[in-house]
Amino acid sequence: MFMSFGLPSEFTPRLAFGTLLDGLKAAGEDTRLRLLAVLGEADLTVSDLTEIMGQSQPRISRHLKLLAEAGLVERHREASWVFYRRATEGPNGVLALRLLALLDPADPVLLRDRERLADVRAARAAAAQAYFRAHAEEWGHIRGLHAPEAEVEAAVHAILGGERIETLLDLGTGTGRMLELFGHEITRGLGLDLSPDMLAVARANLERAGLRNCSVRQGDIFNLAMPRDSFDAVIIHQVLHFLDDGARAVREAARVLKPGGRLLVVDFAPHDLEFLRDAHAHRRLGFSAETVEGWMAQAGLEPLAHQALGPERNAAGRLIVSLWLGRDPRKQAAAGAHREVM
Ligand SMILES: C[S@@+](CC[C@H](N)C(=O)[O-])C[C@H]1O[C@@H](n2cnc3c(N)ncnc32)[C@H](O)[C@@H]1O
Repeated sequence: MFMSFGLPSEFTPRLAFGTLLDGLKAAGEDTRLRLLAVLGEADLTVSDLTEIMGQSQPRISRHLKLLAEAGLVERHREASWVFYRRATEGPNGVLALRLLALLDPADPVLLRDRERLADVRAARAAAAQAYFRAHAEEWGHIRGLHAPEAEVEAAVHAILGGERIETLLDLGTGTGRMLELFGHEITRGLGLDLSPDMLAVARANLERAGLRNCSVRQGDIFNLAMPRDSFDAVIIHQVLHFLDDGARAVREAARVLKPGGRLLVVDFAPHDLEFLRDAHAHRRLGFSAETVEGWMAQAGLEPLAHQALGPERNAAGRLIVSLWLGRDPRKQAAAGAHREVM
């Protein structure tokens, strides 16, 4: 298994001769090395790259195809757009990381590409902020109904932050806030959301925060395109009340947890604010502690903690924010079996 980030200096992965040769051949060309360098900085589309490199779309696409075939870059689709980024997985993900580390960041060619990248980013951030502003009032309305955001985030951090998290998955990431909250403490963070508009805001926020270890992509919480046992922690923050099958979302989240991994669900306690259905597309008016604990148990998780923030009972027109933490029990089960044998 190849590590993707934060390679310790003593860790020198060995690549198969053919793999290394293919990777070097793919990177060993002027435009492709430049492409690799900018894709180490941001997730970009072919049209972004066309603008940055000043080359035609077919040429850029051909180079990207070669880089992708050699495993040096990854592609992911978001609605009708395809994004590219430096590979973070596989043997040539390691090679890409090593090659970029060798490049002089002050090289004039790279500096010019980085300047054009900054223009592309600025345009993208402006579009994302326009979308965000258009909805800010709507979101602000809901925020005003529950405990202050800072209090909720402090509770989220306290309940999940006690243990080291290498890999974090944020489902329904929205503006990427949960990734921002943990981004500086984790090795790698991934946010998924259905909405390309929200992903554009998240991307701009993560770039502004300098969190290159975090990325976002389009994905459906009900159908995660990733293998089981992938993440140390998964967060589902203020998403379940939009869904018609919360149990299924929790099952899918549990599936991708590593042994001993933890799932944090944050959502509202049961309430009677019917207008949230029509005005904000809420399908469920909150969840009891037992409902979400039951879903976690059905998904094979051990409920660890439940916490409620807000008024003691649901005061009229107010929302209680609930936090549920569950753990995949396989690590403890294995440790228990080991103790019995000894
Ligand atoms: C209220 S926002 C919460 C965003 C973020 N978790 C936060 O708390 O800041 C809910 C998000 O869930 C996303 N969402 C809704 N249904 C989804 C689904 N089936 N799969 C992935 N994301 C979904 C929406 O696009 C939206 O960005």
